[in-house]
Amino acid sequence: MRRKVTVVGAGNVGANCALRIADKELADVVLVDVVEGVPQGKALDLLQSGPVEGYDVTVTGSNDYEPTANSDLVIITAGFPRKPGMSRDDLLLANFDVVRQATEQCVRYSPGCILIIVTNPLDAMCQAAFIVSKFSKNRVIGMAGVLDTARFRTFIAQELHVAVENVTAVVMGGHGDSMVPVVRLSNVAGIPLTELMDQATIQRLVERTQNGGAEIVKYLKTGSAYYAPSAAAVEMAESILKDKKKVLPCAAYLEGEYGISGLFVGVPVKLGARGIEQIYQIKLTAEEQAMLNKSAAAVKELVDVIMTRM
Ligand code: APR
Repeated sequence: MRRKVTVVGAGNVGANCALRIADKELADVVLVDVVEGVPQGKALDLLQSGPVEGYDVTVTGSNDYEPTANSDLVIITAGFPRKPGMSRDDLLLANFDVVRQATEQCVRYSPGCILIIVTNPLDAMCQAAFIVSKFSKNRVIGMAGVLDTARFRTFIAQELHVAVENVTAVVMGGHGDSMVPVVRLSNVAGIPLTELMDQATIQRLVERTQNGGAEIVKYLKTGSAYYAPSAAAVEMAESILKDKKKVLPCAAYLEGEYGISGLFVGVPVKLGARGIEQIYQIKLTAEEQAMLNKSAAAVKELVDVIMTRM
């Protein structure tokens, strides 16, 4: 049977998610956006790339949610992107309303779906979707860590002039400036990073990763990154749709893991047909745990703000 994925938000991230899903023939795609004509036009354009690229899936655009019915997976990218000088947190309240509305509608038409959240500020938006959907925690997953580790891996590979596929990196915590690149567990073909670079270089790459989103916003001026974010969301979608059981860093609802409760925080998880099938608990050093606690505290501040609006 053909699978169906809804992408809410037909902007830069959403349209690129739709393109990647179609290109990989993962599922039929429904693009939803509030702007009249945009999802319809982009869907048609994507559909017409099929004969050239050789993919054969249905891509539909809509301003309402009826065509999304019975989606297996929903990726929520709708919202406002970050502008220069704006933190992800400034987006909080504006995007909260968007995610709440999108979640309500998606759940109404696809009560059995799995939700991947991309809209920022990511961890707080996951919490909003989790509460509004009333889904079990394995079915609400945030895209952050796959992107953050992709950035860290890119910078490590560039620095060492090695193939990026040899680089494994671990980034945990919230998707903000306080994210926690776990240097101790990052390696190149099994060789610890600490044996390949001095401390100052590692620190420089860690900071560049933490500011990876802002670096791109500064260049683009009118928006935020979308190629790598859409690639990351679609890697997660593929692992779920194909039940690949990839171990990926994702924002997951924690209930005591890492000493954190009642919050979405980035941790390594197994993604399969049931969504998050396992949360991995790595033994952290005291310093790493302190950084993770600090990052979780930053997430909690935002969650506390949106809880007053629930
Ligand atoms: N319902 C559906 N779509 C909406 C709604 C809504 N209530 N509100 C806004 N949108 C749509 C906009 O019309 C726009 O087409 O969401 C889309 C957002 O697209 P862009 O502005 O291009 O933003 P994008 O770069 O895709 O980023 C979207 O992902 O990475 C995050 O921080 C980023 O939160 C931002 C989100």
